[in-house]
Formats: sequence, structure tokens, C-alpha cells
Amino acid sequence: MSTYVDLMMKIKMRALCLFLSLICAIRTEGLSVRGPAMPLRVQLGASVTLPCSVDTPIPLHELEVQWMREDSGSLVHLFLGGESRPESQSPAYSGRAEIFTEEISKGNFSLLLRKVTTEDKGMYKCVVHTEQESSETNVTIDTELLVVTGADVPVFAYAGEDVILNCSVDTHVPLRELEVEWMKTNEEIQVLLFMEGRYRPESQPERFRGRAEFFSEEIPKGNFSMKLRDVKTEDRGEFMCIVHTDRESVNATAWLQEQGFSTLHWCVLCLTMAAAVFAVFSCIPAVWWIKKALKENPKKK
Ligand SMILES: *[C@@H]1O[C@H](CO)[C@@H](O)[C@H](O)[C@H]1NC(C)=O
Ligand SMILES: *[C@@H]1O[C@H](CO)[C@@H](O)[C@H](O)[C@H]1NC(C)=O
Ligand SMILES: *[C@@H]1O[C@H](CO)[C@@H](O)[C@H](O)[C@H]1NC(C)=O
Ligand SMILES: *[C@@H]1O[C@H](CO)[C@@H](O)[C@H](O)[C@H]1NC(C)=O
Ligand SMILES: *[C@@H]1O[C@H](CO)[C@@H](O)[C@H](O)[C@H]1NC(C)=O
Repeated sequence: MSTYVDLMMKIKMRALCLFLSLICAIRTEGLSVRGPAMPLRVQLGASVTLPCSVDTPIPLHELEVQWMREDSGSLVHLFLGGESRPESQSPAYSGRAEIFTEEISKGNFSLLLRKVTTEDKGMYKCVVHTEQESSETNVTIDTELLVVTGADVPVFAYAGEDVILNCSVDTHVPLRELEVEWMKTNEEIQVLLFMEGRYRPESQPERFRGRAEFFSEEIPKGNFSMKLRDVKTEDRGEFMCIVHTDRESVNATAWLQEQGFSTLHWCVLCLTMAAAVFAVFSCIPAVWWIKKALKENPKKK
């Protein structure tokens, strides 16, 4: 009997709690700012949208949106009195951080941050004020630790020439923890390998042995460009510089294109043609002489 009463009490209490918490939820629902559930991972140099929105649009005249760094408190972007206020923005974000003007009236105050640098890593907050209340959300940016740059334009070379295929690595990861490989993409051949802090010529295929190498003295600067000697016709095509760390793998490409004939080739070709022409012309008198000789002594044969 007493257990029954207990049970009823419990149920009533539960119901009451639920009711109260519902009321609380409704009361605080007034201004609730939504942000992303997870940190945003961004490549250095890329753009990122930091989400921040409210469910019910706020009249522009009573709206103030502050985007700021949670750590330093510096102002990233301010929207006040119906417009953005770039003059109050921290210089580090000048011209790089903006909100989507056409989205503001919909309650979307997301921030577009361009050309992300390592300094942009950290926690941001989006603070939304109305006349009566204010609310905020946190957004964390994690920058990727690795940027790899190849060559924008193809490299042209004559057969027999030496070329440099660029690959620059920008990272804070120590050299010893980097693995850098150059691949010939279409044939999936590994041309060069840097691992555990040093160059690994032993893993190089026959075809590139002694012809492809790094600039050892440039490696500490992140210059993993490849020097390819004595270019051969079959070398032309796409090369890929792939950089691995524990966390990620990023690549960049470089193109090698063969140019028809070198100056040397042209010289040889011209000389050959000149010789041929000379030969032909020098034949004419000889033929003429033979003909003449035959005509003069037709019966000698
Ligand atoms: C806010 O606007 C940006 C840019 O148009 C868009 O990418 C984002 O999805 C929008 N967010 C919401 C919650 O509508
Ligand atoms: C944002 O982060 C700060 C610092 O970690 C914390 O004090 C605050 O409660 C967070 N705000 C929200 C809305 O999560
Ligand atoms: C390789 O890098 C050097 C130095 O940054 C640059 O001058 C050169 O134009 C680059 N070559 C190519 C093909 O991108
Ligand atoms: C890398 O070093 C080589 C040799 O000094 C140089 O020719 C090349 O331009 C450098 N590449 C980059 C991208 O700096
Ligand atoms: C190179 O990078 C691209 C884009 O980041 C990726 O899709 C591709 O799988 C990578 N290729 C290799 C061979 O790692």
C-alpha cells in the first residue's frame, strides 16, 4: 500500500518537474543563439563561415551583433544601428571578416572569415543584443597544420635538360614528423621520399635513380622542391608532392611538359639539312658530267 502511494507521489513529482522545466524552457526561449556543435577545421589561407543565428528574426533597429575573440576580447565584426561598423573592427580582421548582409533580416548573423591564418585559431563568440536581452554562442576554429604549394604553371623542358618542380610546405609540425613523397601520378611511381628527418634514396626506383633529388639545404625552410636531371620524354606528365603528418595528408601538383627540340637539336637538324642540300647540289655537276661523258663515248662500254 505504502509503495503505491510512494509511486503516485513520484509520478506527480515527475509531472510537476516536467511542467516547471517546460515553463522555464519557454521563458528562456526568448533569445536563443545557435552556433555550430563542433569546432570548425579550416585550411590555412581558406575561407570559413562561422555559424550564428536566431530562430525569430530581430528588427534591425534594435539589433546589435558583436563577433569577438573569446580569448583576447578583440572585436572581429560589429553590426549596429542597421549596419556593419568596420571602423571598430580589430585591424587583424580588417577586410577579412564580414556578415552576410542579405541574411541578417532572416536572423542569420554568420560570419565569413577569409584568408585564415594560424593566428585565427581559437574561440570566437557571437553576441546578439536586442533592446531587452542578449545571448551568445561560441564558435571554435581549428586551423589545419599543413599547407602544401606546388607549381601553378607547367614547367617546360627539352629532353636532356634539368628542371625544378616546386613544392613548398608551410607547417609548424617538426621536420622529423613529416613524410614527404614525390609521385609520378599517372604511373603511381614514387620518385622521391623524405622520412624520419632524412632523404631516402634507397626507396627510389631505377628509372629515377641519380636523376631526382631534393635540395637538402632548402628542406629546413620547407622547400621540398625536386630537381630532375636529364629529362626524358617519358617523364612528362603530372607529379604530385604528398605531405603526411600524424593527423593529415595534403598534396600539391606540378606539371612537366616536354618542349619539341632544343637549340642543339635545331643546330644538328639545320646542319644535316644543309649537308643534304649541299650534297644534292654537288651531285648536279657530277650527273651532268657523267651524262656528257656517256654521250661523247657511247661505244666505249
Ligand atoms: C546563413 O547564411 C550563410 C550564407 O548565405 C549560409 O551559408 C548559412 O547556412 C546560413 N545559416 C542559416 C542558419 O540559415
Ligand atoms: C563560451 O566559452 C566560455 C569560455 O570557455 C564559457 O565561459 C561560456 O560559458 C561559453 N558560452 C557558451 C554559450 O557556451
Ligand atoms: C618555383 O618557385 C620559385 C620561388 O618561389 C619561383 O620563382 C618559380 O617561379 C616557381 N616555379 C614555378 C614553375 O612555379
Ligand atoms: C627551392 O630551392 C631551389 C634551390 O635553391 C630554388 O631554385 C627553388 O626556387 C626553391 N623553391 C621554392 C618554392 O622556394
Ligand atoms: C590529393 O588531395 C586531394 C584533395 O585534397 C585528395 O582528394 C586526393 O585524394 C589526394 N591524393 C593523394 C594521392 O593523396
